[in-house]
Amino acid sequence: MTDAAIETNQTSPPTNIVIFGAAGDLTKRKLLPALINMQRAGLLHPDSVVTGVVNNRTEAEWLELVHQGIVDYAPELNLQETEWQAFAERMHMVPGDLGDAETYTRLGEALQELDGQKNALFYCAIPPQWYTRTAEGLQAAGLTRQDNGFRRIVIEKPFGMDLESAKSLNTELQQVFDESQIYRIDHYLGKESVQNLMVFRFANSIMEPLWNRQYIDHVQILAAESIGIEYRANYYENSGALRDMIQSHLMQVMTLVAMEPPVELTDDAVRDEKMKVLRAVRPFEFQTPKCQAVFAQYAKGQVNGEKVPAYVGEEDVAPDSVTETFAAAKFFVDNWRWQGVPFILWTGKRMKKRVSEIVIRFREVPFNLFDPDGPAPLPNALVFRLQPDEGVFLRTNAKKPGLTTEMQRLVMRAPYAPDGSDVAEAYEVLLYDVLQGDATLFSRADEVEESWKIIEPLLEEAKLRTDIKRYPAGTWDVPGMGPLLAGCVGGWHKPS
Ligand code: BG6
Repeated sequence: MTDAAIETNQTSPPTNIVIFGAAGDLTKRKLLPALINMQRAGLLHPDSVVTGVVNNRTEAEWLELVHQGIVDYAPELNLQETEWQAFAERMHMVPGDLGDAETYTRLGEALQELDGQKNALFYCAIPPQWYTRTAEGLQAAGLTRQDNGFRRIVIEKPFGMDLESAKSLNTELQQVFDESQIYRIDHYLGKESVQNLMVFRFANSIMEPLWNRQYIDHVQILAAESIGIEYRANYYENSGALRDMIQSHLMQVMTLVAMEPPVELTDDAVRDEKMKVLRAVRPFEFQTPKCQAVFAQYAKGQVNGEKVPAYVGEEDVAPDSVTETFAAAKFFVDNWRWQGVPFILWTGKRMKKRVSEIVIRFREVPFNLFDPDGPAPLPNALVFRLQPDEGVFLRTNAKKPGLTTEMQRLVMRAPYAPDGSDVAEAYEVLLYDVLQGDATLFSRADEVEESWKIIEPLLEEAKLRTDIKRYPAGTWDVPGMGPLLAGCVGGWHKPS
C-alpha cells in the first residue's frame, strides 16, 4: 500500500473478489490488469483475494493461462515477474461448472476458509445466459446474505437483447439481490474522459448559459472503430451495432450530455437526472425510423494500409447476413432545454480510424460580417475527445495574420492529461467504485429498460430487413449519413 493511499484512506475494503469466467478473455484483458494496477496504486486492500471459478483446469494451469493472457493482451501494464508472483499470492481457484449446484457449495467453503467475515464481490464475466443461474446458485448456497459484510454482483453487458429480456433479467436478479447490490457495467461510464464531461459542465459557469436549444444546433456522439468483429461473430450476428454500442454506451453518454445538474453527487441523484432524459426522448415510430436512422455493413477494403475482408467474409458470419456494423440514429429530447435539438448517435466497425467523441455544434452567426456575400463562418464546435488523445477542443474562427481581414479556423486544444499522467483504464475506475459501493457510474434497472424501450422500434425494423447498405472498410463512405444530418449545421462530423 502506498503512503498516500493510507493517508487519504482511499484503499478499497478487504474483499473476496470472485470472478465467474475467470479463464476468459475479459478476465485476462481487463479485470486482472485493472486489479494489478489497483494493487500498484495501493487501492486494493492487502487482504483482498481473487477467487476464480474455472472449469476443467488445475489451479496451476489457470494461473499460467491468465498470466500469459495478461502479458499478451495488456502489454502496457509491463508486468514484471516479481509483481505477478506477489499478485498471484492473492489468487485461488474453485473448480466447477456454473450449472452445477456443487460449484457454489465449494465456493462457499472456499470463501469460509479464506475468511468468512469478508465482503464479497461476484463478477459475472460470463455469457449472459448464465447470469440468472449464477445468481440463483449463489443464493441457494447462502452466499448472498449480507450478515458479515457486503455482497455485490457485477453484471456485464449485454444486459438483455430487447426490452422484454432486460425486464426478465432485472426481475430474476432482483429476486436474489437488492437493486443496491446489483452493478450493471457500462464501461464507457468508467472512461475518465466521460467523467470529465460532468466536471466540465458543472464546474464551469460559462457552460450553463450556452448548454441549451438557444445556442446549440445539434449534438453528435460517435464511437468509430477501426477493428472488425474480432472473432465474435456468434455474439455480433445476434447483436449488431445498434445493440452493441448505441443502446448501451452511446445512450448513456447522451444522458450525461443532456441531463440537468443533479442536486448532489450521489448515485441516485445522478441516475434520477439521467433517467429523466431517457423519459423525455421522443419515441421512434415503427416503419418511420428510415429517415431517423442509418444502418450499414462493411464491405472489404483497407484499414491502416492492410486489406481486410467484408463483414460477410469474416469467420462464422452468414454469407447473406444483413447485420449492421454501422448504426446511426437521430434522437430528440423533448424537454424545456433540448426541444428541437437533434442528438445524432453513431458508431461503426472498420471505419477509417478509431475515435470516440462528443461534438457540440453551436448555431451559426446570423450573417457573415466579414464577407456578406460569402458562406457563413464555420460553426463553433466544442469537442470532447473521449479516446484516443483524450481532451477538449473548441473550434472557433479567427483572423488570419495579414493586412486583409480573412478568417481562419482556430482550434483551442486542452488535452485531458497535459502533464502526461496516466489516464486510468475504465475497468479500474469501475472495479474500484464497486468495491467502494459507489454506483454512480453503473446503469440502474429503470435506465436499462428505458433505453431498450426507446430503441425497440428500430429493432423491430431491423427484424424485417432483407438487405443492407454497404460501406468500404477503412472509409467514412457510409451511404445515408448526408440525408440523416440534413439541416444540421456543418453536416456529418467525420473526425480528423
Ligand atoms: C464493447 C463492444 O462493449 O465496446 C465492442 O461490445 C466494442 O464491440 C467495445 O469494440 C468498444 O470499447 P472501447 O472502449 O474500445 O471504445
